[in-house]
Amino acid sequence: MDSLRIDQSWFVSEMVRVTTDMWRKGWDERNGGNVSLRLLPSDIEPYLASWTKTRIWPLTLPVAGLDGEYFLVTGTGAYFRNVEREPEENLGIIRVLPGGSAVEIMWGFGEKGGPTSEMPAHLSSHFACQKPGSRLKRVIMHCHATHVIALSYVLELTSANITRALWEASTECLVVFPDGIGIMDWMVPGTDSIGDATAALLAHHPMAVWPFHGVFATGHDLGEAFGLIETAEKAGELLVKVISMGGPRQTISTANLVDLARRFGVKPLPSAMALNGWRMAEKAGAEKPITRLEPALVGAALR
Ligand code: 13P
Ligand code: ZN
Repeated sequence: MDSLRIDQSWFVSEMVRVTTDMWRKGWDERNGGNVSLRLLPSDIEPYLASWTKTRIWPLTLPVAGLDGEYFLVTGTGAYFRNVEREPEENLGIIRVLPGGSAVEIMWGFGEKGGPTSEMPAHLSSHFACQKPGSRLKRVIMHCHATHVIALSYVLELTSANITRALWEASTECLVVFPDGIGIMDWMVPGTDSIGDATAALLAHHPMAVWPFHGVFATGHDLGEAFGLIETAEKAGELLVKVISMGGPRQTISTANLVDLARRFGVKPLPSAMALNGWRMAEKAGAEKPITRLEPALVGAALR
């Protein structure tokens, strides 16, 4: 019998397809974005015997509770544009070692590469999303969704406000993400703290926005996480256009949202329902400049 080819497995094939689609959408310039998919024992069992040359990759944020779990992950520095041509260079399979302070690279990432720099956010979020009694969310997906990022410069940055703005921008949004979209302050990417903050949001919302950077979405499978970003991003694009046309003159009302929720049997995020519409951020001016020049900080950064 021919040896099994992992690049023909359903999970590598699906990952290649989704990363290629994400690149085509313009969400993943250069090495922007990263995706992780939890693999089940039945997925990896046929390949285990062939993984003889493994390497250890330390993690900065030990993630407890995922010991022995396998994930298919995009590589750090990997260009989504190249995943289809060279899956073994740009993707890899990891196993979380006991205690969660390192992973074992079982396959992929080329000779010396490793998993995405956003591993703290991915693993913490996988842990936060596994809820006893509910179907496992196997996917965490990060990308630089253009219009949602653009909106983070002008909308008031609260989870309720961002959620309400997107719900009003397109009728299907409330049905697709009734639990809303979480948002945090700007933070340095690739750090343990942004990982913790992301996981805390994803425990309650299917998607989180990193202002001026991108989004993190969850899904039971790759298609669901992709579809969620696609829906929010489409609403984001509509909203950017509406704001550019001078702002809405009419919109989906609270009563309309109540009717939608009733028809589709969803319970919408109470804090977003409680708002009377959505708000732009306070306009920058002399008292509130967009960026503050802090000479001491600039000096320290340049030293
Ligand atoms: P990686 O190349 O390490 O996955 O980082 C890309 C990115 O989008 C960081 O936020
Ligand atoms: Zn990013």
